[in-house]
Amino acid sequence: MAKRQASFACQNCGAVYNRWKGKCEACGGWNTIVEETASSNPMVGPVATRPSRAKGRIFPLEGLSGEAKEAPRTPSGIAELDRVTGGGFVHGSIILLGGDPGIGKSTLLMQASAALAKRGERVAYISGEEAVAQVRLRAERLGLGQAQVELASETNVEDIVATLSQGRPPALAIIDSIQTMWTETVESAPGTVTQVRGSAQALIRFAKTTGTAVILVGHVTKDGQIAGPRVVEHMVDAVVSFEGDTGHHFRILRAVKNRFGPTDEIGVFEMSDQGLREVPNPSELFLAGRDLATPGTAVFAGMEGTRPLLVEIQALVAPSSLGTPRRAVVGWDPARLSMVLAVLEAHGGLRLGMHDVYLNVAGGLRITEPAADLAAAAALVSSLSGSPLPPDTVYFGELGLSGAIRPVAQAEARLKEAAKLGFANAVSPAARADKKKERLPLAPSSIGHITDLVAGIAVRRKAS
Ligand code: TYD
Ligand code: MG
Repeated sequence: MAKRQASFACQNCGAVYNRWKGKCEACGGWNTIVEETASSNPMVGPVATRPSRAKGRIFPLEGLSGEAKEAPRTPSGIAELDRVTGGGFVHGSIILLGGDPGIGKSTLLMQASAALAKRGERVAYISGEEAVAQVRLRAERLGLGQAQVELASETNVEDIVATLSQGRPPALAIIDSIQTMWTETVESAPGTVTQVRGSAQALIRFAKTTGTAVILVGHVTKDGQIAGPRVVEHMVDAVVSFEGDTGHHFRILRAVKNRFGPTDEIGVFEMSDQGLREVPNPSELFLAGRDLATPGTAVFAGMEGTRPLLVEIQALVAPSSLGTPRRAVVGWDPARLSMVLAVLEAHGGLRLGMHDVYLNVAGGLRITEPAADLAAAAALVSSLSGSPLPPDTVYFGELGLSGAIRPVAQAEARLKEAAKLGFANAVSPAARADKKKERLPLAPSSIGHITDLVAGIAVRRKAS
């Protein structure tokens, strides 16, 4: 019999310690560590208290070459949502939907529920945050008042599971939010990590036994972590985050983890007064209102999953009055900006040590692709030299530390999208030799080194 050991868990980030501490070393929170007994920790409980058996049960071991079936799915009918989930909700799967408060999670899920219900599926929407009347009011506002969604305001997980288990199991159950749920099987107060974990586990068991797809809503804290629900990330089948700037109308749905589909696809929505609208052609949206004649803006031909996406990258390079000049980035990796600046100084002949540098990805989008290096560099050089870039040109390419521009994947798809939106030129790394030029929708001006980029912009300046 295993010795019972006390364990202490941080209620903020879920880190586990074997003794009490005043400050959590993992997240830096004070007074967040609470003792968990075996009965209060469902992860420990069933294993530690299981009676030892003399003999194990023998289960069949199978080969990899057996029959494999595609997981059955229920598509939501909202194309941008289905793209992210990989074609619909997999039966019996659990999805964690994270996002800042007020970003539109409840709105999105209400629209998805109504869409499913319209197609005759049983859908349950359990709100732990809002009263039934409030949820109804929102549905009314979205024009979904007539949808056959089963609605309840409830926080006790045992009651929810018992209710949903009656009759035909729902195709989709939404739990809004997991932070408000509590289960009787653990002793801790509602809202604690222990409760969140226990509740999630009960709901996962429900999903797996009934085949209902369950979506758990989780709020994200200031520092971008899904507080509490972070500890259930490893238990769920998919983690999807809903991002955006409350100052902008665009919302981006992104899969962070997906056991049943891709993790690099994004869904783009626009928040309107009638709820979230799908944006099937995001490039147009992100380029709308572009300022063509000012220095410091470059259009990046990016890829999000299988979809090309054009966005504007803006840079401002200005003489600094500070001893240590400022470097600020929105929507891009600050470490990558430092690298691009270092390469521009070392190999491009630019002097940026006395300048403040600001970089912004327009529209509130966040770019993670290294292919954006060249567009960022072009915007920086343009801002420093005061010479606007040609408005009909897109940029893409990865920058090496040597100053070399390296080819990136899916150049053709990027060029096609640029041509579709009326761009006439592209500055990009030289394509691999076996590429047939005549097939490309627009002929890119290939450059191989950062000096080519700087020289190109300098020539424009002289000419103008
Ligand atoms: P909500 O879905 O409640 O956010 P979350 O569940 O992520 O906390 O969305 C709240 C915001 O969305 C709120 O600020 C108002 C706005 N909104 C609209 O702009 N249009 C609409 O049709 C709806 C329903 C909400
Ligand atoms: Mg909500």
